Amino acid sequence: MNPQKHIAIVGATGAVGEEMLKCLAERNFPIKELTLLASARSAGKTTTFRGQEITIKELTHQSFEGIDIALFSASGDISREYAPSAAAAGCTVIDNSSAFRMDPDVPLIVPEINPQAALSAPKNIIANPNCTTIISLMALFPLHKKYGLKSIIASSYQAVSGSGAAGIAELELQNKLIANNNPITPDDINVYPVQIASNVIPHVDTFLDNGFTKEEQKMLFESRKILQLPELKVTCTCVRVPVYRSHSVSITAQFEHPVNVTEAKASFTDQPGIKLKDDPENNIYPVPLDTTCKDDCLVGRIRKDQVLENALTIWAVGDQVRKGAALNAVQIAEII
Ligand code: A2P
Repeated sequence: MNPQKHIAIVGATGAVGEEMLKCLAERNFPIKELTLLASARSAGKTTTFRGQEITIKELTHQSFEGIDIALFSASGDISREYAPSAAAAGCTVIDNSSAFRMDPDVPLIVPEINPQAALSAPKNIIANPNCTTIISLMALFPLHKKYGLKSIIASSYQAVSGSGAAGIAELELQNKLIANNNPITPDDINVYPVQIASNVIPHVDTFLDNGFTKEEQKMLFESRKILQLPELKVTCTCVRVPVYRSHSVSITAQFEHPVNVTEAKASFTDQPGIKLKDDPENNIYPVPLDTTCKDDCLVGRIRKDQVLENALTIWAVGDQVRKGAALNAVQIAEII
């Protein structure tokens, strides 16, 4: 049995921070003490964990004395500023932001895929991958083990939870305005460049010189690092959709070896964290509501691709806040 740990959550009042609390409670994580950190705006507010009231404290560079593991989910800037202080205080940081993911001395972990890499963290920092990358790789890993992954062409359908509490609030507000026949004014559009309710936006994160977005390039570089496939080719279009929590991804994956659909489906039997839901003739396939607030990702619509050789086209769905962020971070904490 693991010894009890002093755990901190940085960004405890955010969408992912609150889910981290739920995951720690549900999974009976061995906790000696829990420190909840957020901005000065939240300091003094209280929340309940395992029946105990905990007061939220303001994050400072001195917050980490005596803390064993700090789960960071407050933004890349906050991680860049405070994670080094936490690590220097002897605390292991599990960081949900993209700040350290591509640092060669920072392991990038999906516990079902590369758990052993978490055991060597020379900087005392471990990174949680991008949510769309986690959900995609959960579906691709059993196929990769069987056929050897060569390339990925993907389009994502990403929930507003990926933009934190503010994204969820913006969709709620715009949905209410539409339901009440009120106009959506420029004041009601803050998180996204255009209205998200009743719309889809082919733009997640900032654009780069090559026309892709940072989010799209995360799929490329993070997948290479996690799977240890430096030659892996990835092209991706990330799209924000008016869904509250779960992300979906349409993926065409090409492999080294010939594929077989029946065999590919069978490769999901007994895989931790991913389940097959694939009987399209009876309208059975994964949809975002299936995985919302659930731990497991789902995969379906598995078919032989009609363009590429040795390729499958699949549909993967997972709760962005849970497996895409909070749960994955808590699973990493369980490993170390
Ligand atoms: P707060 O609620 O005090 O602003 P989300 O991504 O869901 O918006 O959550 C962001 C999280 O990051 C919140 O918990 C938020 O706390 C926290 N946060 C934002 N700015 C800071 C800061 N300067 N110091 C500490 N925590 C911060």
